[in-house]
Amino acid sequence: MSNKPLNVGLVGGGRGAFIVNPHQKAIHFDGTRRVVAGALFPDPKIALEEAAKWPYPIKGYGSYDEMIAANRSLPEDQKLDYILIVTPNFVHYDPAMKAMKAGIPVFCEKPLCLNLKEASELVKTARKLGVPFGVAHTYLGHWTSRLSRYIVQSGLLGEVRWVDSYYLQGWLATKLEASGQQQAVWRVDPKRAGGSGCGGDIGTHALMQLRYVTGLEVRAVSAQLVTFVEGRQLDDHFTVYCKLSNGGNALVRASQICIGHKNDLGILIAGTKGSLRWRQEEPESITICLPNQPDRIYWRGAVTPGDGFLPKDMPADLMAEPTIPSGHPEAFHDAFARLHRCFEADVRRWKAGGKFIGDGAKYANIEDGWMGIAFIETCVKSSARKGAWTALPRKI
Ligand SMILES: NC(=O)c1ccc[n+]([C@@H]2O[C@H](COP(=O)([O-])OP(=O)(O)OC[C@H]3O[C@@H](n4cnc5c(N)ncnc54)[C@H](O)[C@@H]3O)[C@@H](O)[C@H]2O)c1
Repeated sequence: MSNKPLNVGLVGGGRGAFIVNPHQKAIHFDGTRRVVAGALFPDPKIALEEAAKWPYPIKGYGSYDEMIAANRSLPEDQKLDYILIVTPNFVHYDPAMKAMKAGIPVFCEKPLCLNLKEASELVKTARKLGVPFGVAHTYLGHWTSRLSRYIVQSGLLGEVRWVDSYYLQGWLATKLEASGQQQAVWRVDPKRAGGSGCGGDIGTHALMQLRYVTGLEVRAVSAQLVTFVEGRQLDDHFTVYCKLSNGGNALVRASQICIGHKNDLGILIAGTKGSLRWRQEEPESITICLPNQPDRIYWRGAVTPGDGFLPKDMPADLMAEPTIPSGHPEAFHDAFARLHRCFEADVRRWKAGGKFIGDGAKYANIEDGWMGIAFIETCVKSSARKGAWTALPRKI
């Protein structure tokens, strides 16, 4: 197989943009992927200026339409191997659809798009064209999320009774958008963010963490979307009681008015044999609590199969995934890099013969993105009916 780095094209990322930065570091993390092009800003002139100012040479385009069109006539070794979409939510659907139709795999920020109609069209197109499609649910890329998934799904904690999956922030506790703060302005605008503010922005991460670690689906919700900050159109506080596919219960909650909480995403899982706790702000370990035993703390890269709790035959790919020995801390950028690394593997499989895995075990796939949007739309409906229990669509 060729060891030529994959070529990545950016959609969004110019002028003070946020999430492009960790992504572009993660893309370059292994030397097997590189950013080569970008349509970085909605205004074509500024887009080109921003590309010219990029910290390393990239080909600038005035728009993503131009970038996708130009790709057709590039020599094979200069063609884009995937695009990364890091624009606000209302500019996900269009570049994703156009890239897929041009035969370019897509790694897209969450939430997948604005509504279920868009999400369903994206899923149908991805399936029809057989193009790899990843959704950037960052926290699945922590090795401890992988280990948690293994522990819960292999039944080591028994049957899941209760999950509390949360993401608490405090940065929107005041009307920050009135100051023109770039990231706040579009997040509180339903036309650019979608039907839920806080829920769409970070509640989708809490949902994805629950689904990824437990393998369970949310079947019905009783949701309360609250707007504490006066004059804001979308929720800034999102509390959802859930019925799970195994008969268990869960709370998926998110808030952006919890002063002092920064990126306080975490999960607590209570099973019939024990519990698991994990927080992304301290992502290097998970805590397992078993009845009448001292708590067990498992550190990334320092677990011993056959220790009396973990079985002897831990999956080889899980055990091989940490990139540095434990004690040299991994964090947010490493999690992003692990997602890009796994997406890269699928893109290379696809380039080599059309087949790829994309089953959601290594990064969120397009169906996961669809489920995030289905969850948000159902929560908005339930909340409008004062928290009435409302069923989720099962799958597309
Ligand atoms: N996975 C995560 O942990 C995480 C964290 C933050 C944000 N996000 C998601 O990433 C996306 C971007 O969020 P952000 O906070 O970086 O936003 P941002 O406002 O900081 O950056 C958005 C960028 O998109 C550009 N843009 C807008 N329209 C464009 C167009 N038509 N063509 C080209 N560029 C265009 C803007 O100029 C800007 O450069 C959102 O969907 C958000 O939900 C995910």
